[in-house]
Amino acid sequence: MKNLVEWLKEHGGLKIIDEPLDVELEIPHIAYIEVKKSDSRPILFTRPVWRAKGLEYDIPVLMNLFANREITEKILGDHPDRIAMGIDQLMKFKPPAGLLEKLKTVPKLMALKNVFPKRLSFRGECQETIIPKEKVDLDRLPILKTWPEDGGRFITMGQVYTRSLDGAMQNLGMYRLQQYGRDRLGMHWQIHKDASHFFDQYREAGVKMPVSVAIGGDPLYIWCGQAPMPHGLFELLLYGFIRGRKAQLVKSITNDIYIPRDADIVIEGFVDPEKMEIEGPFGDHTGYYTLPEAFPVMEVEAITMKKDPLFCATVVGKPPLEDKYMGWATERVFLPMLKPLAPDLIDYNMPENGVFHNLILAKMAVSYKGHAKQFMHAFWGVGQMSFVKHAIFVDEDAPDLDDYEKLTRYILDRVSPEKILISEGIVDQLDHSSPQTLVGGKMGIDATGAQLPGGQKRILSDRELLEKMRDIDADIVALRQYMSDSANPIAIIALDKRESAKRTIDSLVPLAGYFSILVVVDAKNNDLDNPYMLIWRVTNNIDAGRDILLEPFIAIDATNKNEVDGFSRKWPGDTMCDEGVLRSLIDRGLVELDSDEIVRMSLLPFNLYS
Ligand SMILES: Cc1cc2nc3c(=O)[nH]c(=O)nc-3n(C[C@H](O)[C@H](O)[C@H](O)COP(=O)(O)O)c2cc1C
Repeated sequence: MKNLVEWLKEHGGLKIIDEPLDVELEIPHIAYIEVKKSDSRPILFTRPVWRAKGLEYDIPVLMNLFANREITEKILGDHPDRIAMGIDQLMKFKPPAGLLEKLKTVPKLMALKNVFPKRLSFRGECQETIIPKEKVDLDRLPILKTWPEDGGRFITMGQVYTRSLDGAMQNLGMYRLQQYGRDRLGMHWQIHKDASHFFDQYREAGVKMPVSVAIGGDPLYIWCGQAPMPHGLFELLLYGFIRGRKAQLVKSITNDIYIPRDADIVIEGFVDPEKMEIEGPFGDHTGYYTLPEAFPVMEVEAITMKKDPLFCATVVGKPPLEDKYMGWATERVFLPMLKPLAPDLIDYNMPENGVFHNLILAKMAVSYKGHAKQFMHAFWGVGQMSFVKHAIFVDEDAPDLDDYEKLTRYILDRVSPEKILISEGIVDQLDHSSPQTLVGGKMGIDATGAQLPGGQKRILSDRELLEKMRDIDADIVALRQYMSDSANPIAIIALDKRESAKRTIDSLVPLAGYFSILVVVDAKNNDLDNPYMLIWRVTNNIDAGRDILLEPFIAIDATNKNEVDGFSRKWPGDTMCDEGVLRSLIDRGLVELDSDEIVRMSLLPFNLYS
């Protein structure tokens, strides 16, 4: 971590802010706004304070470590595509035939010898300072409160190390951790994640579960913590493969969990499987709050640290954020691991404004009828890919998957109701739109095949079409058309919603000759001229089984749901900055923003159509 910080300083890639700033909202708001910029940099906050408690910290807070692609590549030590090639070669590895072949395989085999972590029998740098149980006080760490309505302070970049009850499997997962008082931390491992499966084993056996949380150290550990490794495979194997060097681990002081010797800070303890506590709310990477829910709690037995530790943290909220860059590397590195499931898969892309699990775009070589549908089922059935709510498949002649403008047109030129599959499956535990938790609707679009003829619709100006719609329903307050010259012109409308948007959709059937796809969003907090945030909103807010209608046109109800829709769960709010804190940061010159940017980034509530 220190090497990286030095490298960043030398290359002008690090912002250093020496002004005392509050761990509650001030530091997170500055980092949040910085990482949304096109030239974003990591920030080192050298003087964090906690004003409410009158505390000053001598541990600096490092944020936005994965601030852009260049730094992400530096952390990985290579371009993620080249790492993927290495994995691909390994997966296709065959016993060498002749002597020359044998010699050629030596470097590959040498790389493999570094994969397995090494357990050291002495103490690590992460144990230079040891704070025993009776002196543990989590208030002494500069833990952040990132959003105004968060249930408290959360460690947001904790590497959570656990192991199975029989000790045969080890796991590193990145899960957020809520601070409860001096010495307890909430373990937000969601139900589908590996640490949660281990926890079930301890609960069944009635045994306390050892957990150690590391913060910092080699930044590659952080990336490995979020990597969706198959169940049973320790993420530090991937670390060793990528680094070409074994991860070096030392035993925690108070439990048997091994942690990286070079971590900056380690929090050790045990989870009593009998005790759960309400966790959250927390402004999450979906850009919405996750609602309070019971999760396991760790009783801290000791905190250990390096002599001069750094405290690494991130902010999750509306895209784009650090997970854009972490997710890019993950997407690239994991491509060869997806291919055995779907051999004709050419490439895939998970746009960050689809918050990864809400939208996947995939390119494939189609060999037979129904091939794309076969892929949909394969994706929805495997590991964390099964969280994906909306999957769109295109042919090998489609534009590059990150050329969104051209790709959208390509897809629209091929979509028709019979090429849309609506299904049901598991959804990310964070998903707020499904009628029930954990299970919800899925939509797959088979956009492979021949181009459809365009010109089937009569295109009006936005103003003319809006007028026609308002004659039918005056609650429609704005309209914008997209890709009107494609085979499926889109009309997106903003609604002052008073009753279910389905009624508005039904009432617009007489206008079916003017558009092919109708998308409805709330007037509040949506800007019809901002397609990036509209994709974010729509893919978040819909449950395909309930909100997509296919006849007489394709209609998508992406409004917030409530009792008028028969929605019985609580619908969470978006992550919005605290207005007072934001204005004060602007006044003090700590962030530069104009009112248009505040709306574009959706930092404060707005209504452009009132
Ligand atoms: C910043 C950040 C925060 C995350 N927080 C959580 C979390 O609180 N709970 C969770 O289950 N997953 C969280 N994740 C996603 C997991 O890290 C990811 O799914 C990982 O692959 C889980 O590892 P596992 O399969 O070993 O459990 C987070 C990811 C990032 C990048």
